[in-house]
Amino acid sequence: VGAEDAEYLVSLIRSIPGFPKEGIIFRDFMPVLADARGLDVLMRALEAALPVPADEFDSIAGLESRGFLFGPALAHHLGKGFIAIRKAGKLPPETIGESYELEYGTASVEIETMAVRPGERVLIVDDLIATGGTAKAGADLIEKAGGKVAGFSFVMGLDGLDGLAKLGDVPSSMLVSMP
Ligand code: PRP
Ligand code: ADE
Repeated sequence: VGAEDAEYLVSLIRSIPGFPKEGIIFRDFMPVLADARGLDVLMRALEAALPVPADEFDSIAGLESRGFLFGPALAHHLGKGFIAIRKAGKLPPETIGESYELEYGTASVEIETMAVRPGERVLIVDDLIATGGTAKAGADLIEKAGGKVAGFSFVMGLDGLDGLAKLGDVPSSMLVSMP
C-alpha cells in the first residue's frame, strides 16, 4: 500500500484515554472496519506486511473477539480458511484449552480439537498485541492441537510492553506501533 493509504488507515484508529480504566489509552480499530476504504486498505496492508509468504501457511486463526472481526475477511482475501480461538466455555466438545496470565488473574482460550489438521501451518491474527499473553496462549493452543504456528499478524502493537518477546522466534508483523 502507498503512504497515503497507510496514513488513511492510521487516521481511522481512535484513541480513548482513561478507558477501560485510568492510565490506559484504549486503541479502537472499529472505525477502520466501518469504512469501506479503510477495510480495503487494511486487507491490502496486512497482505503486504505478512510475516511469511502466503504459500507458507494453510489457514488463519483469529483470537476472540477482535481477531474475529477481520480474520475471516483476511482469510478470504488470501484464499485461506479460518480457525476460531475462543474464550473458554463457548465451544462444544472436544476442545483443547490453554490458560494465560492477565494483569490480574488468569484467562483461558479454547479451540475445537478437529479445527486443526496434523501439521497444519497457521497464521495467528489479532487487532492488538499488548503483553503478548493472549497471542502466546493462542499459539500454544495451535501447537497442542497438532498444528504449526507460521507467524503472527497484528494491526497494532503497544510500545514498551515487550509483547513480541513472548512469542519466541516465530515471525510477526504489526502495521502500527503506538504508546
Ligand atoms: C485485547 C486484544 C487482544 C489482547 C491483547 O482483547 O484484542 O486480544 O487484549 O492483550 P495482551 O497482548 O496483553 O494479551 P481483550 O482480552 O480485551 O478481549 P476482546 O477482544 O474480547 O475485547
Ligand atoms: N488490549 C490490551 N491493551 C489494549 C489497549 N490499550 N487498547 C485496546 N485493546 C487493548
